[in-house]
Amino acid sequence: MKQAFLFVLSAFWTLTAAQNYYQGLMDYLDNRLLAIEDRMQLWHDQNRRYHSEQQDFKKLTQELMEGLGGDFSAFYKDLSGADIRVQRAEREMEYVETWTSPRACVRPEERVLERGEWSLKESRVPEGEDHDWEEVKAQVSDCEDVVSGIRSVKILKRAGGPKGVWTPDPKSSKVFVFNGTSGDSVFQFNSVRDFCSSSGLNSSSSLRLGVDWTGAGSALYNHHLYYVTHAEEVQVVKFDLASGFITDIAMFPLASVSPVYSLNPETIADLAVDHQGLWLLYSSNEKEPNINLAKLDHQSLDIEQIWDTGCPREKAEAAFVACGVVYVVYNTRLPSRSRIQCVFDVNGVVVNEEAPLMYFPRRFGAHSSLKYNPEERQLYGWDDGYQIIYRLTMKRKMMARR
Ligand SMILES: *[C@@H]1O[C@H](CO)[C@@H](O)[C@H](O)[C@H]1NC(C)=O
Ligand SMILES: *[C@@H]1O[C@H](CO)[C@@H](O)[C@H](O)[C@H]1NC(C)=O
Repeated sequence: MKQAFLFVLSAFWTLTAAQNYYQGLMDYLDNRLLAIEDRMQLWHDQNRRYHSEQQDFKKLTQELMEGLGGDFSAFYKDLSGADIRVQRAEREMEYVETWTSPRACVRPEERVLERGEWSLKESRVPEGEDHDWEEVKAQVSDCEDVVSGIRSVKILKRAGGPKGVWTPDPKSSKVFVFNGTSGDSVFQFNSVRDFCSSSGLNSSSSLRLGVDWTGAGSALYNHHLYYVTHAEEVQVVKFDLASGFITDIAMFPLASVSPVYSLNPETIADLAVDHQGLWLLYSSNEKEPNINLAKLDHQSLDIEQIWDTGCPREKAEAAFVACGVVYVVYNTRLPSRSRIQCVFDVNGVVVNEEAPLMYFPRRFGAHSSLKYNPEERQLYGWDDGYQIIYRLTMKRKMMARR
């Protein structure tokens, strides 16, 4: 009896010790990972050393994972999470490497110049290393944030029709307004304040684009307007605000044309912008129940990658992308409260099942567009003719899982 008791006690002790051990191990891995992620900032002069260190670390992670039995599935799951982060960090490192390797040692401006897309005046950049480094830093995604709530709402104005898009240019603070669901021009204002104090949409502030836009899918990135046009084909158009000309048009091969959000049938495809660049939300054909996502190269309009988000088009009214995560906003046919009810993370860290349901503050109608501004971390919404700004609260992805 006593022996049995001792045995149970010792078994219990062993289990607790093992748990403590793995918990400690997790903390250790977490800390190491954070340290490594911080070090990516210092990548500039630590290229080689870092690489081998990361390899060692990956080996360690793999060994640990192999060593772990099925008994500790919870820890195992955490470790897989860590492994995904390592792999992701690795991919980012590879990306930086191609940027900094001698072979690829051409300034981004030069590449653009080769394509003849920018005028000479614009291609002149300040001398020095800083510029390159800033570019590289901007390319390495340090964006680990996930939207955790809608903090506040500000109704700025009521201008134009019930549907439209408004979006600021973070670089120049100008504001662009696409009124309605199609047109050949866009209204521009010098600032949000100018827009608010203006008497409304007035032809003196309108800018002709040359090719018609359709739907509420337009976006602004790096001094260019990107919009969707649908004449014979569905195309993405890139309009250079500096020169006032269209600099590129790319066809979008769709088996059949059908709206990306069922509650906004005019929007065939929706362009979105985040820290990582330009995205396109679309539906590949009318039988496809889900929203598809494509990453576009903002310079060439090339499609880099395509995903099925798993988020249904039915009852969707809008969507936005922040830090590589798609947030799809749903409503009902009789407008009620909009809510983020489906998320999709291209890196697979944020899992839809674990993401919270997020309601927008109670409002009048339905959104025709929601444009995310990565600099300000706020959404520019067009809600039944009202122009609204939603501030978002964010938290770190890993913490979102715990
Ligand atoms: C804005 O669009 C609506 C249709 O949605 C139209 O009735 C209105 O005239 C437009 N306003 C301007 C200034 O173009
Ligand atoms: C349009 O705006 C200009 C100034 O930007 C103003 O002088 C003009 O009266 C406005 N027109 C209308 C119809 O509001």
